[in-house]
Amino acid sequence: MRERIREILSKKPSDDILTVEGWVRTKRDSKNVCFLEINDGSCLKGIQAVVDKASFSNNNLLDSITTGAAVVARGRLVESLGGNQAVELETSGIEIVGPCPQDYPLQKKRHTVEFLREKAHLRARTNLFGAVTRVRNTMSYAIHSFFQENGFIYVNTPLITASDCEGAGEQFQVTTLDIENPPRLKDGSIDYSKDFFGRMAKLTVSGQLDGETYAMAMKNIYTFGPTFRAENSNTTRHLAEFWMVEPEMAFCDLEGDMEVAESFLKYVFKKVLDERSEDMAFFDSFVQKGVVGTLEHVITSPFEHMTYTEAIKRLEKENDRFEFPVHWGSDIQSEHERYLTEEIAKRPVIVTDYPKEIKAFYMMLNEDGRTVRGMDVLAPRLGEIIGGSEREWRLDILENRMKELGLKPEDYWWYLDLRRYGSVPHAGFGLGFERAVQYVTGMGNIRDVIPYPRYVKSAEF
Ligand code: 4AD
Ligand code: MG
Repeated sequence: MRERIREILSKKPSDDILTVEGWVRTKRDSKNVCFLEINDGSCLKGIQAVVDKASFSNNNLLDSITTGAAVVARGRLVESLGGNQAVELETSGIEIVGPCPQDYPLQKKRHTVEFLREKAHLRARTNLFGAVTRVRNTMSYAIHSFFQENGFIYVNTPLITASDCEGAGEQFQVTTLDIENPPRLKDGSIDYSKDFFGRMAKLTVSGQLDGETYAMAMKNIYTFGPTFRAENSNTTRHLAEFWMVEPEMAFCDLEGDMEVAESFLKYVFKKVLDERSEDMAFFDSFVQKGVVGTLEHVITSPFEHMTYTEAIKRLEKENDRFEFPVHWGSDIQSEHERYLTEEIAKRPVIVTDYPKEIKAFYMMLNEDGRTVRGMDVLAPRLGEIIGGSEREWRLDILENRMKELGLKPEDYWWYLDLRRYGSVPHAGFGLGFERAVQYVTGMGNIRDVIPYPRYVKSAEF
């Protein structure tokens, strides 16, 4: 493997002839010298290649090097005279591998994120999206390291499923039937026994239910994969296809679940600060002032804890400032989440023990019979980044909850089997990966922290 610019930049000047491969970000010409900034995505700042025109026989070649062109440059690494970099390439040879004509959309100026979203196939070549891509990568790796270091087994749960984990009816259907002329039963309804899977199938909204079956054998497991939601939410925090991290732990209660969630987030944030300081300084200067300091603070201070009932009491006092005033029983919406985290706690808040009516069927019922052992981790700016719970592990209570909600227990027979055969208290949570990337980078729109966002009316690229 050829060295990347990041490794080259960490070297000392020497007489060795090095090879630099990358794309030209900028070109500055003076009478005698030409400066090229070459970037290969390995770090924020590219390398400066300096070409002495007098010693260069082919000046036509230099003229045809434009912003966006792919080049291979050779030369010695020398101490840089300019103040912006320690070393630069004293270029002795250069080759254009892929020329780039003048209609290249990423010319040297600051483009808006909206403009770049329409050029998503090229946007990774900008400083901003390069930095997002590297931080996202570091976070993925940190997620795996955290769980691997703590004895969790990585399990791949299916993306195609016949069950609705969250029971919210927000699933995309998967079918090979001719939708213009589907086979029908006598009563006119569609005959799904003729469909590919012999039944109606959907894209999963969460790997949790399958994850639980593996936790009941392997103790601690996690999933990390794509999930899909056909929510008609046109917000800066919702995608139709997003990545979710879902640990599940047997012999674990809600307290244990919250401890893991908190140390997990802190571990991931710390890895980014340690390993991506250059990119984080960039986000701090150009995207979200103070984001580095905030993360440093979050890593070293405990999260705030509050029950739903306490949270509602605090929020009710401020009801006149909310678009949707709250009372006990109402859902905590994004404006309330922001108030709790930004005004009251000034850090992440874990809210627990929600009314059963506003949470999913699988959450463990408290003794009061009205609330469930669920928890949401709320973050300033974003609101909910994690949703989790202790699971209802008692068969009779779980079956009752399902019936109350109009779910058919026979559709979930295998899930209920877990409560028949060696059931134990267990708990888990789901982290919305893109929301976590948004939190770390300070990026305002979730559509800009995933390479190719899928959302309402948009599946380009
Ligand atoms: O709170 P949710 O719906 O929880 C579950 O799916 C559970 N089965 C998780 C578990 O206990 N194993 O989703 C979990 C997280 C949310 O907190 C949010 O961060 C993210 O997934 N999320 C979304 N992210 C982007 N776009 C969307 N449309 C999202 N919906 C949820
Ligand atoms: Mg949730």
